[in-house]
Amino acid sequence: MKIRPVIRLTGEIDIPGDKSISHRAIMLGSLAKGETRIKGVQDSDDCNYTAAAFSQMGIEIEKRGEITAVKGKGLKGLQKPAVELHVGNSGTTMRILAGILAGQDFEVTLTADESLSRRPMKRIVEPLSLMGVDIKARDGEYPPLTVKGGPVKAVNYKMPVSSAQVKSAILFAGLYSEGTTRVTEEFRSRDHTERMMEYFGADIDIDGTRVSVTGGKELASRYVEVPGDISSASFFIAAATLLQGSKLMIKKVGMNPTRSCFIDILARMGAHIAVMNKKALFEPVADIEVESAKTSGTVIEKGEIPGIIDELPALFVVASLSEGRTVIEGAGELRVKETDRIRSMQENLSAMGARFSGEGDNIIIDGVKELKPSIIKAYGDHRTCMSMAVAALAARGESEIDDVACVGKSFPGFFRTLEELKQ
Ligand code: S3P
Repeated sequence: MKIRPVIRLTGEIDIPGDKSISHRAIMLGSLAKGETRIKGVQDSDDCNYTAAAFSQMGIEIEKRGEITAVKGKGLKGLQKPAVELHVGNSGTTMRILAGILAGQDFEVTLTADESLSRRPMKRIVEPLSLMGVDIKARDGEYPPLTVKGGPVKAVNYKMPVSSAQVKSAILFAGLYSEGTTRVTEEFRSRDHTERMMEYFGADIDIDGTRVSVTGGKELASRYVEVPGDISSASFFIAAATLLQGSKLMIKKVGMNPTRSCFIDILARMGAHIAVMNKKALFEPVADIEVESAKTSGTVIEKGEIPGIIDELPALFVVASLSEGRTVIEGAGELRVKETDRIRSMQENLSAMGARFSGEGDNIIIDGVKELKPSIIKAYGDHRTCMSMAVAALAARGESEIDDVACVGKSFPGFFRTLEELKQ
């Protein structure tokens, strides 16, 4: 796809539903008793893999306009699927599903596409094994995963990496444990699982960075409204900040404090972002107004990383065109996403003339006045692709992205939405 620079972005947009919340709503809806209605499930490859996996395990999932109706059959209501469950490129589906399968009475193999088949799974194999679950990965680390459900032991687990997917796998397995399972992380990752489990009536307790769940309690079906995905919104927030004269209104974006750090960090870099009409639902939402601004570098410490993990590629683009130096510490988790996002962004941004150095877990970006057009490589990664599209909009000439189909993972309408806002 060719991308020409634009003068500015203006207008009002709705951002499709949050990916993390959509996965969890389908999962908890399937495990609750009765019909859960979900408004605004993200219509993307990843969320469709989650829905398909539960359909293959006997759960009726029906789309009625904006509503997805999930007929849950209780904690132990899943049936053994006829075949292996393929989860495509969805790490969230694979990792959290492994926790759910821990408590079922059957064995299943979860398979993945080529990229996910290279991503680490030991981080869930270890805690689930401690919980007494029979779980096997290729070389102890990679997909496919085979999980044979059975009795689940309660554990006290301190996570070596702060990861919401790992935390969620343990908490879902904890729904089946005898007694109370406790999981602690160094820095708090996104807390959608905790919030939604509480909403569905699970016996859950949150104490700082420690979450406890007591197993054996059936869940009740609920009505869930999925807010707009702040990670998808981040590309438009970054673009409007960079393109002079832009003014965007982004409606009903999820403002969960474990997800909205991108806005706080951009604001401290000098961005003009107003958060308005905030509603304190079980997942808070607000409208976000962004106007272009001159930004300067900042320091992002390790403890801030989980709160901005998916928005870092967009932040790299803003930092590249900001005044002065941006230092990002402890971002090593970016190397095990859909691609090594430190490498993919470093290569692409450097080719455009940015001053980006990424060594190990740390990144230093020195702002430049302008970016050159380039041939961009998406590396099959949706967030590299969308972030680099933002860089291309702000560049001095026409760029090209080698493959844009990967945006279907979280935001199939990304380029269409962008077209609507171009001036
Ligand atoms: C997710 C958690 C994050 C994030 C991913 C979705 C989730 O991964 O990068 O896009 O829905 O729990 P980690 O928890 O592994 O950091």
